[in-house]
Amino acid sequence: MLTWYRANGRDLPWRNTSDPYHILVSEIMLQQTQVDRVLPKYFEWLDKYPSFEVLADAPPADVRRTWYPLGYNIRPDRLQAIARQAVDAHGGRLPSDEETLLSFKGIGAYTAGALRSFAFRQRAAILDTNVARVIFRVFVGKGDPKGHAMKKRLWAISEALVPHQHVFDFNQALMDFGATQCPARKPRCQVCPMKKYCLSYPLEA
Ligand code: ADE
Repeated sequence: MLTWYRANGRDLPWRNTSDPYHILVSEIMLQQTQVDRVLPKYFEWLDKYPSFEVLADAPPADVRRTWYPLGYNIRPDRLQAIARQAVDAHGGRLPSDEETLLSFKGIGAYTAGALRSFAFRQRAAILDTNVARVIFRVFVGKGDPKGHAMKKRLWAISEALVPHQHVFDFNQALMDFGATQCPARKPRCQVCPMKKYCLSYPLEA
């Protein structure tokens, strides 16, 4: 995975930072919106709201207006609520431990894993749609990929996979691998580095 990422990974601005605020903004934006639409908004947002403090104090209508073209418009409210909680309860910073992160409204298991591995460089797993698809295909192969029990199983596999070093790159790699090498439709099985042991190989005709 790491070798694949070094050759094929995308150079994205949130991969050159470990600032928890920047990582949080990027991850909330990327939850439902494609990378190419997020890129300009990510820069505009950080320009306008450079810190948790500035975002916490901004007029909510202004925050929503800045977000608006990205869609799924509950997200700016959530992001501002997280900023307020960080300012009110944690001195303007995000805590780094899992339990406190999960106590924030708007931070779920995926976002907590992303923050821990990308911002705090902890050995933490992630599971979003792309990562779930890759792990399901390679390590499970059959069953209902979307069921509750499967989700638990996929989380457990993701946790077992996280290496002790290069966690940041490994988790970013899983996401890119899912987005570009192993997408839902037309996965590129013939040129896949995992084809020898992938339980779903070959998926393409
Ligand atoms: N989707 C969610 N998080 C992402 C990230 N860090 N890089 C690329 N796509 C993503």
